[in-house]
Amino acid sequence: MNILFMGPPGAGKGTQAEKILEKLGIPHIATGDMFRSAMANGTPLGLKAKEYMESGALVPDDVTIGIVGDRLAEADCQPGFLLDGFPRTVPQADALKDILAKSDRQVDAVINIEMQTDILMKRLSGRRICKQCGASFHKLFVPPQQAGVCDHCGGELYTRKDDSRETAQKRLDVHAEQTQPLIDYYQQQGLLKNIQGDQPVEKVLEDILAALG
Ligand code: AP5
Ligand code: MG
Ligand code: ZN
Repeated sequence: MNILFMGPPGAGKGTQAEKILEKLGIPHIATGDMFRSAMANGTPLGLKAKEYMESGALVPDDVTIGIVGDRLAEADCQPGFLLDGFPRTVPQADALKDILAKSDRQVDAVINIEMQTDILMKRLSGRRICKQCGASFHKLFVPPQQAGVCDHCGGELYTRKDDSRETAQKRLDVHAEQTQPLIDYYQQQGLLKNIQGDQPVEKVLEDILAALG
């Protein structure tokens, strides 16, 4: 199954993707994670993405479409994949359609996690991420068993630079302006499944699994 996860920053895309993968066994492709890892390794891609990510802007479409196209061509994506945070613009969605059509594939479902803005800021400001495996925690809402340490791999937890109040607000604005139009785009194609994100993690997961059938 080829699944897309949409939703504003902090909606819980990464948190839910991690849980769903345990059940579906398909690769999780998160463009934000790919850029963060490229930045941490100082690769040319990382250098290109850095200024955009740190200001809360979108990385240019040609760069983003290129890395997703390469990733979707890999063998492990042929049985299915979960794309988290891509597409984020209408040109990205058109490009995805073309990339998949070339290998007789298509998007099967779009999970749109809906959330109110005031809660999103609370989620982003308290988020802690694992340096090693990328798992998301929250100091109040999803606390790790031991402060500062990942439950899954023992890695060190850190705060994302773009979770500062100012940059988080910019990301929310960018989402409203550039990504919101995709909701109509996928609604018109009959693929959109709206999920209420302001519920306990396990309940959101249950709703997503029910929507995927
Ligand atoms: P990206 O990494 O994709 O960030 P984002 O879309 O802003 O989304 P987040 O990762 O912040 O939120 P999430 O929905 O995954 O929430 P999470 O599960 O962590 O993108 C970062 C940047 O990369 C972009 O700004 C851009 O520059 C660039 N980029 C990426 N993709 C791009 C693209 N396609 N085109 C161009 N540029 C691109 O949860 C958040 C917090 O809430 C956590 O602390 C978690 O523990 C907690 N939480 C989760 N669920 C619950 C719950 N049910 N109840 C209580 N707390 C919860
Ligand atoms: Mg995420
Ligand atoms: Zn970890």
